[in-house]
Amino acid sequence: MKAVLCKAFGPAETLVLEEVAGPAIKKNEILLEVHAAGVNFPDTLIIEGKYQFKPPFPFSPGGEAAGVVLEVGEKVEHLKAGDRVMALTGWGSFAEQVAVPGYNVMPIPGGLDFTAAAAFGMTYGTSMHALKQRANLQPGETLLVLGASGGVGLAAVEIGKAMGARVIAAASSAEKLAVAKAAGADELINYSESSLKEEVKKLTGGQGADVIYDPVGGDLFDEAIRSIAWNGRLLVVGFASGRIPELPVNLCLLKGAAVVGVFWGSFAQRQPQDNAANFQQLFAWHAEGKLKPLVSQTFPLQQAAEAINALGQRKAVGKVVVQVR
Ligand SMILES: NC(=O)c1ccc[n+]([C@@H]2O[C@H](COP(=O)([O-])OP(=O)(O)OC[C@H]3O[C@@H](n4cnc5c(N)ncnc54)[C@H](OP(=O)(O)O)[C@@H]3O)[C@@H](O)[C@H]2O)c1
Repeated sequence: MKAVLCKAFGPAETLVLEEVAGPAIKKNEILLEVHAAGVNFPDTLIIEGKYQFKPPFPFSPGGEAAGVVLEVGEKVEHLKAGDRVMALTGWGSFAEQVAVPGYNVMPIPGGLDFTAAAAFGMTYGTSMHALKQRANLQPGETLLVLGASGGVGLAAVEIGKAMGARVIAAASSAEKLAVAKAAGADELINYSESSLKEEVKKLTGGQGADVIYDPVGGDLFDEAIRSIAWNGRLLVVGFASGRIPELPVNLCLLKGAAVVGVFWGSFAQRQPQDNAANFQQLFAWHAEGKLKPLVSQTFPLQQAAEAINALGQRKAVGKVVVQVR
């Protein structure tokens, strides 16, 4: 099979496309024929050795995929050969086949093609878990989303609206904010041009945002925690800016606020039934037209490096997908 390989940590340009043997599966795994693979920020980190997982070389990046089940390990009961599925793989999806533990694979509902399905799981799964289990977002609350046109950010805008929140989308350019507006955001803040803290104050009558969704970290986190409402919850989702911020905890004391960690991959593994219930809700909202996964760019497998760089160079909006077949 063809696979994009990382043979040593480095930038995306060092990835190579080679012909390799297909993977063998364990008893708890399925073999997936990959049709499309979603690109996520962790793909930019894993090839540089900067992610929490460091697979042995050579490995293929690509944390999620959609395709057809080719083989099923004897301990996997909910799937059969020929099923159309979406899978969370961690890595390995930028290849024509990947072996995946059965618990990370689910059938694709009607209405999603392979491209959209490959772009759905990681972003909507993360943002749903963040806003439901971690923030307990309530109808009528104000949700501030940073990096609001990115993968997880745009999903958070749509889910926030579906949960009945007033959504303030914040991003670094007018073009990116237009994407968040089209996804349903009520208010927009361009944090390249104005102070996040001052704009949030203006838009909330001085109260601040009840829930803040932060996939960016760095300086924006420092401003965001000062924009939080009494009883607020700031969701620590990621550090796309490259800096993990530090927190003077008196800021939490003063607002009765909580800083809450979000780790969707672990949640899905530790609380599979809650994760499955989240996806039932997400699929229902998708069928009702409340969620519209935006795939802004697709790349063939031989251009996987360009796909990864679109995220690493802060150029992507919505999702980027590698079309494997
Ligand atoms: N906790 C979890 O379970 C979980 C799950 C999935 C992803 N994540 C994390 O969430 C973050 C976002 O992932 P994603 O896949 O949604 O990425 P993405 O599509 O690339 O979005 C990231 C956003 O961050 C902003 N950003 C600010 N500084 C940046 C920089 N130096 N480089 C790139 N982007 C920058 C960009 O928006 P502006 O230009 O508008 O600022 C961009 O839209 C990552 O840190 C990822 O690891 C966490």
